[in-house]
Amino acid sequence: PHILTLHGPNLNLLGRREPQHYGQSTLAQIDAALQAQAQTWGWKLRCLQSNAEHELVDAVQAAAEQGVDYLIINPAAFTHTSVALRDALSAVAIPFIEVHLSNIHAREPFRRHSYFSDLAQGSIVGLGPDGYTLALEAIRRRLSA
Ligand code: DQA
Repeated sequence: PHILTLHGPNLNLLGRREPQHYGQSTLAQIDAALQAQAQTWGWKLRCLQSNAEHELVDAVQAAAEQGVDYLIINPAAFTHTSVALRDALSAVAIPFIEVHLSNIHAREPFRRHSYFSDLAQGSIVGLGPDGYTLALEAIRRRLSA
């Protein structure tokens, strides 16, 4: 299997960005944990972070041509704003799991709505970096079911 992990805007700052919400782990550490897990299964896993909406849209479109089987995505602030990224995921119809480090339901009201949750196979929120590895484990179970 071929997995693509997408991280939205400002997630490059993880580790020093509002640690009370997002914890101490860096994005490099999160990606390394996913890579390690994927490697033990012999899976291909790629990670991309972008602050630019169009780059994430392009990556989703390209994923279809690259034969990506599953996406893990934390759209970050685009969660609450981006019809364009939602439409891209809808267009390619690659199954995906939505991850948020923080519990978006326990913060400002504007974070409660996600343009992605109804399309996602599932959403994991509030569990910090574990959300990503739990998402990968959920994908493993689904692909072997
Ligand atoms: C986030 C939650 C979003 O509301 C926020 O804009 C982020 C990160 C999270 O992982 O908790 O940038 O997606």
